[in-house]
Amino acid sequence: MNKKMTIHSIQQAKHKRPLVMITAYDALFAGLFDPIADIVLVGDSLNMSFAGKADTLSTTLDQMIYHTQAVGQGAKNSFIICDMPFGTYTTPELALNNAIKVFQETPADAVKIEGGSDKADLVSHLTHNGIAVCGHIGLLPQSVRSEGGYRVKGKDEAQTRALIEDAKAIEEAGAFCIVIEGVKADAAARVAKAVEVPLIGIGAGSAVDGQVLVFSDMLGLFEAFTPKFVKKYLNGAELVKDAVQTYADEVDSRAFPDEMHTY
Ligand code: KIV
Repeated sequence: MNKKMTIHSIQQAKHKRPLVMITAYDALFAGLFDPIADIVLVGDSLNMSFAGKADTLSTTLDQMIYHTQAVGQGAKNSFIICDMPFGTYTTPELALNNAIKVFQETPADAVKIEGGSDKADLVSHLTHNGIAVCGHIGLLPQSVRSEGGYRVKGKDEAQTRALIEDAKAIEEAGAFCIVIEGVKADAAARVAKAVEVPLIGIGAGSAVDGQVLVFSDMLGLFEAFTPKFVKKYLNGAELVKDAVQTYADEVDSRAFPDEMHTY
């Protein structure tokens, strides 16, 4: 079994090998990913793929704490990051109180916060008070309503420079790594070069320092929609539906339970 990563080893990985991050929301899947992934992210995407909501905005801190506790039961050997949900970090004080609650009630090693230069003071306040912070720049799912949709970033020089400024500002504020989402590959590559901390991409091309995918997307379990950047490594929904249909057919025909599955 691989040794659990630390902030130091995550940062050292930057020029050595790409980091593997995946989301998990429960102990069952976290346990399956634990021996393989470097970092397990308890993403607020759980509000969509676990709770069935249209976006992440109604996720609560209590939900994040509950799911991070569950993930901690399965992922004993992975570095765990817990997303701070929408509305829980509107001021540095509120952010610190809520992040302390996450640290006290769950085994999270770090929290993740969406935003760039505008969140630098807040990131600095958290890191100066013992909370490790992963940044999140580019397409920000928590801004979907204010931006009127999910908008790919880094499409021109001005946007690319803004992303570089965002990454530098939160790195300087103390973030130990940064997720970059929904950004043109050439822009993301420039951001990765501009900072010393690892830049972990999702829909941001391959010239970054690691990748993260939402597990229910990459296992083909989430059917509502599939963004262009998602590669389905399993046809999960079809496999599950076929299995449950076979079970239902066998119950109907009394083929299940057979002798082998009967006391
Ligand atoms: O909530 C989440 O799963 C995330 C990923 C999209 C990075 O933030």
